[in-house]
Amino acid sequence: MLFPKKFINKDKLINELTGKTIVITGASSGIGEQLAYYLGELTCHLILVARREEKLLHIKKTINTAKVSVYKADLRNQDDRRGFLSFIYNLDTDIDFFVNNAGISIKRSIYDSLDRFHDFQRTMSINYFAPVEILLSIIPNLERSNGQIINVSTINTLLVPFPYFSAYEASKQAFDTWFQSVSPELNARGIFTTSIYLPLVRTPMIEPTKTYQTKPAMSPNHVAQIISQSMYKKKRSFKPWWIFGGEVLSLFLRRVWEKFGYRFLK
Ligand SMILES: NC(=O)c1ccc[n+]([C@@H]2O[C@H](COP(=O)([O-])OP(=O)(O)OC[C@H]3O[C@@H](n4cnc5c(N)ncnc54)[C@H](OP(=O)(O)O)[C@@H]3O)[C@@H](O)[C@H]2O)c1
Repeated sequence: MLFPKKFINKDKLINELTGKTIVITGASSGIGEQLAYYLGELTCHLILVARREEKLLHIKKTINTAKVSVYKADLRNQDDRRGFLSFIYNLDTDIDFFVNNAGISIKRSIYDSLDRFHDFQRTMSINYFAPVEILLSIIPNLERSNGQIINVSTINTLLVPFPYFSAYEASKQAFDTWFQSVSPELNARGIFTTSIYLPLVRTPMIEPTKTYQTKPAMSPNHVAQIISQSMYKKKRSFKPWWIFGGEVLSLFLRRVWEKFGYRFLK
């Protein structure tokens, strides 16, 4: 009930994606990996990016229909980002879809973070600076192809920020705000923009958080279908149907939470 099954119009998906070039960052695991498998059944060109090349090569081997290119990069590293951009410039086609999915999450109390400034640097680096720098370079490319940028975001950006996740929350919010800000300009030039606001998804990202193991979570395959549907529907955003209640509560109870929330953390 929380995550109703998606109806995918395969004909529309095939029409939209045949012959197209799709970049998926963070394709070696979780959502990106499942998206690669899902789209891998179509006649398109997938460019899979992540640090773990052996995982990307394994995914490539498993995919029979799509053409798959693998690019190993630590997207926090500016030289790797530049190398990846050169690879894109040297393709003989433009990019039609850019799925900004690579990301990391950190759950840590601020009191355990006092000597860990690097946590904030690395989350900003992968969740914010990497996609901004890449997109700045490929916007002209996406404009030529009337392409689409799909950002894999989180429902947290729609709600009151959670304690313990400050590094993650701030970095995801930063990119979401950047993306909301540039979207009208991009849309005016023919680039589609889509934000996918996800609840918990059962991927390696949430494994370290024990309390998440018993919470309801979407499957990464379900998310792959949501993203695929957004590729032919071109909707501006996906949100779980029930998040509206959370948004309203967040709006009205924000002050109460700010005043009394600390009591729950004692
Ligand atoms: N899981 C959830 O509950 C949830 C909820 C809302 C939103 N999201 C978002 O969904 C996206 C995908 O997360 P996931 O749940 O699928 O997690 P995941 O299984 O941990 O996958 C993360 C992916 O990002 C890649 N990545 C991380 N750091 C990278 C770096 N420095 N350079 C290049 N690639 C890097 C990883 O590849 P390598 O390690 O091989 O580099 C991996 O392929 C993230 O943006 C996350 O914020 C997840």
